[in-house]
Amino acid sequence: QKDGYPHFMIKEIHEQPQAITRTITPRIKDMLPDFSEDGIPDSFFEDVNDITIVACGTAMYAGMVGKTMIQNRLHIPVTVAIASEFRYEEPVITDKSMVIVVSQSGETIDTLEALRLANKYTKKTLSIVNVKGSSIARESSYVLYTHAGPEIAVASTKAYTVQAATFYLLGCKLALVQNKMSVEEAHEFIQTLSEIPNYIEEVLAQASNVEQLTKRMTNAANAFFIGRGLDYTLCMEGALKLKEISYIHAEAYAAGELKHGTIALISEGVPVIAVATQKHVYSKVISNIREVKARGAYVTLLTREKEITDPSICDVHISLPDIADEFAIFEAVVIFQLIAYYTSVGKGLNPDQPRNLAKSVTVE
Ligand code: M6R
Repeated sequence: QKDGYPHFMIKEIHEQPQAITRTITPRIKDMLPDFSEDGIPDSFFEDVNDITIVACGTAMYAGMVGKTMIQNRLHIPVTVAIASEFRYEEPVITDKSMVIVVSQSGETIDTLEALRLANKYTKKTLSIVNVKGSSIARESSYVLYTHAGPEIAVASTKAYTVQAATFYLLGCKLALVQNKMSVEEAHEFIQTLSEIPNYIEEVLAQASNVEQLTKRMTNAANAFFIGRGLDYTLCMEGALKLKEISYIHAEAYAAGELKHGTIALISEGVPVIAVATQKHVYSKVISNIREVKARGAYVTLLTREKEITDPSICDVHISLPDIADEFAIFEAVVIFQLIAYYTSVGKGLNPDQPRNLAKSVTVE
């Protein structure tokens, strides 16, 4: 079943190009997003005042990517809520709110209960789910199935990228229906989205380099992931993955926030994984990296340049294929997954079955 791979996790990391293709292809017609096969009418995307995305863990981090992408395009409030918090709060939801719940298994109890609560306030509930016929899929007004195929490893990898890809289709659809994007812009957007699987293949070709660089990570007690904007949302997923399977304490920080306290934790040799793929904040992130480097951090930097102008700002540079800013997360996340995987294996752990964790969390 592992098709020659030593673990399910690495197999699933490598399956991402096909998983994305399977998820997006049936929903692209004439280079525009199309949810007719999912039975969702365009009217569902009209008259939306605000959006709340509810999920847990990795699915929530995919939701954060979705939030940034949708909010930037639609200019309406988009909130991401932790399902276990949302279900016990007083929800600020009206019949013009769209609630999107995200779940690989479709059975996570907190997400399911959050959906049940949302259903009391609005008919505009939509789920993004991988497992067909699961409770969350059945109880939402509409469902967009991701086609990742079975995800066996406890650490979610391909489910995240297909959830993010679904958000990109969804964001494009909402923007078109609400006249926030022209048909020409949508064509270009969908064209780039369809090329993502090829870009991921290119990133996967760097797997053995990533394995080399994790040799140093295996001894680390702490690690920090820093970035801004979409890169920051991605850092949260990178830190979760590392914690989950390598048991290294890892945190994600918005790079500009470090000087408000966290930089005190940086000492000689602490690994900092920095991402700078977003042009509009590039110089800001670079100056944040200089601050941690000056305090002795061991910096691994991910950018879309072949070579960085000032190599002294980092110890290792990982060059990602050049792509439009909005889409760079699909490349960088693969590097994060590989870092977590090889660190876990390097520590002699079984990445497929991390301690204390279950694949599907059906209890509170
Ligand atoms: O099945 P779900 O997507 O609802 O699961 C949500 C989380 O439990 C899950 O993503 C968890 O965080 C992963 N093990 C992370 O790799």
